[in-house]
Amino acid sequence: TDATTEETKVLTVGTSADYAPFEFVDTKVSEDIIGFDIDLANLIAERLGYELKFTNSDFNSLIPGLQAKKYDLVISGMTPTEERDEVVDFSTPYYETEQYMVSMKESNITSMEDLKGKKVGA
Ligand code: ARG
Repeated sequence: TDATTEETKVLTVGTSADYAPFEFVDTKVSEDIIGFDIDLANLIAERLGYELKFTNSDFNSLIPGLQAKKYDLVISGMTPTEERDEVVDFSTPYYETEQYMVSMKESNITSMEDLKGKKVGA
């Protein structure tokens, strides 16, 4: 038997896969839960020698599920609130951004509206 397989500890992770690009179901190909949060959690877990098993659940059931020990952890784009903070522990933030799309000055594209009817490459 493979020693590394035996040593791999599996953690159950609760997420609400309705929040692209953070967590969503890959309906086009695999039906897997994919997204930024999934990649991030897998990357951290891999470095710590864990394997993750994601469970798709309603967002509002995630904290109750954690309290019921249904999940070892939750990753679901969750923002701390006073109410949540009373019952669960939040990590340090993993996603804050000041990122923008960029277009040429002359393009006159200032909003999504300006893209209506525009063809790719035109
Ligand atoms: N950040 C918001 C919150 O914590 C919305 C998160 C929704 N996430 C989801 N996977 N549906 O309430």
